[in-house]
Amino acid sequence: MCGIVAYIGKKQAFPIVLKGLKRLEYRGYDSAGVALLNNGSLNIYKRSGKVSNLEGFALKSDVEGNAGIGHTRWATHGAPNDVNAHPHFSNDGTLALIHNGIIENYDILKKDLTSKGYTFKSETDTEVLVHLIDDIRKNENVWFGEALRRALHHVVGAYAIVVISKDEPNKLVAARKSSPLVVGIGNEGDFYLASDATPIVEYTKNVVYLEDEEIAVIDLAEGLRIYNIGDQEKTPYVQQLELELAALEKGGYEHFMIKEINEQPRSIQDCFRGRLNATEGWVSLGGIREYEQKMINANRMIIVACGTSWHAGLVGEYLIEDLARINVEVEYASEFRYRNPIITENDIVIAISQSGETADTLAALELAKSKGATILGICNVVGSSISRITDAGSYTHAGPEIGVASTKAFTAQVTILTLMALSLGHKKGMINDSKFHTLLAELEAIPDKVKTVLESNKAIEKIAEEYKNASNALYLGRGSSFPVALEGALKLKEISYIHAEGYPAAEMKHGPIALIDENMPVFVIATHGNSYEKVVSNIQEVKARKGKIVAIVTQGDKHVKELADHIIEIPETDEFLVPLLATIPFQLLSYHIAVMRGCNVDQPRNLAKSVTVE
Ligand code: F6R
Repeated sequence: MCGIVAYIGKKQAFPIVLKGLKRLEYRGYDSAGVALLNNGSLNIYKRSGKVSNLEGFALKSDVEGNAGIGHTRWATHGAPNDVNAHPHFSNDGTLALIHNGIIENYDILKKDLTSKGYTFKSETDTEVLVHLIDDIRKNENVWFGEALRRALHHVVGAYAIVVISKDEPNKLVAARKSSPLVVGIGNEGDFYLASDATPIVEYTKNVVYLEDEEIAVIDLAEGLRIYNIGDQEKTPYVQQLELELAALEKGGYEHFMIKEINEQPRSIQDCFRGRLNATEGWVSLGGIREYEQKMINANRMIIVACGTSWHAGLVGEYLIEDLARINVEVEYASEFRYRNPIITENDIVIAISQSGETADTLAALELAKSKGATILGICNVVGSSISRITDAGSYTHAGPEIGVASTKAFTAQVTILTLMALSLGHKKGMINDSKFHTLLAELEAIPDKVKTVLESNKAIEKIAEEYKNASNALYLGRGSSFPVALEGALKLKEISYIHAEGYPAAEMKHGPIALIDENMPVFVIATHGNSYEKVVSNIQEVKARKGKIVAIVTQGDKHVKELADHIIEIPETDEFLVPLLATIPFQLLSYHIAVMRGCNVDQPRNLAKSVTVE
């Protein structure tokens, strides 16, 4: 959480930093600030609220300068106000600093610095960093980059930091540990820094992803140098960005979320491009191929993830256990990492993460690695921390997901897990050739079927109109549709602020049924398959208590149509693939309800896209 951007070179820094902050606003949007170096003066502009507030405020001044740092915040310590916004600066006004992460020992550091006479203006944990660097710089008589390196030895926690100094206007220094940071090497001897590559791609494709405990020293005269915190110099590993600028724009849609929902036929296709050929009858996940035998022989697979990615993991559990007969457990990463779990070298731990930066998921992987397990990743963001620490993995190739509520990343994660289940199941001899070929052909047909589901948008908007004022909602599903119910409920609550719960349909009798009355909408996945009749009984139980039913059914279904208040049809597909289709009406429903309630769908309150704090 929090987004950081910096620029140093010949161009004006403010427009570059501001545009970058707008691209990173998905990471936090409660306050923003920039610091600009101009002819020996360091000017800081900070405002609570969105980056646009900062823009309006800063543009009243001349905002000149060829070096600048900027920050968009998601508050952890201290309220989201002007004072707590970053950058923070040293008492003498020489240094300015931005930070993404959490300084866990800030209390002790603050006491120590206060006793030395430093005054704190904000309630943030970050401010200790700038005073600590300043203190070392003065007392140990070193330049600010060296002071930063020495300061890091006293710091416990997570950080991506950029520091600027008015004494050395040609330099920027940055460091990272557990929070991401990318350096862009410009074409005009200039440099960019950002939390991810999205603010950089417009200017250069040459980037260096900093590793944990690395420090980047940018000097306009000498270029980029990378050191570890032990002061050993390292050779920068320059990578080429594959990201395209157009993927970061709204492309005519009103919100990123609806754009991303509509991208799913293509994102699912991109996910299995080159990995599946139904005509020739093969499926292959190149990234994990050399680990497949190990997966087949594993004691068990443990999937660790958070939020929507955890829901994808649950779908994966149904698929892999059923198709490949491998024992799978799905764990909340935040619980797993602190539970002292029993992990052996025969376990495979798979992290699922859109951003590849989620702090708990990363920590869960590190724990599994320390116990000797094989660690694999399913990530969307190329070059992200999780993708770099894993032994191997598969990218979802969904393209940048900017709406805070995850949509296309979820279906891409489920697609990868489906490919994995099919590949393992076939290699292990658990699915015969005929079933394998049928499922491959069905999977290949999914993008077109998703298009068909998206055509129900207008009808779904009408249903949204009817339920937009609900205070509560229940989502029910069975088998692999149960995680779809959980995901439907999460989408509704996070963007429309309506309380919603997902349950396995049969569990309804054990408590939630008490909530049902004429005001309670119940969204049910009632598609053809093994548990169809049972779900129909659950629908009858709801109707007997005057609850309202919105059912997702298989095209042509007559039975549920008679019982339900509304139905949304999805094309017939194999039961294993239903989650890829059934999740889409729920995404659309949540989107329309949130828009009708006047909510900010792309940036819901209190949320951030990339949760880099625990
Ligand atoms: C919900 C949502 C979150 C994320 C969760 C994990 O729409 O987006 O629940 O799924 O924060 O994030 P990643 O997948 O980046 O690890």
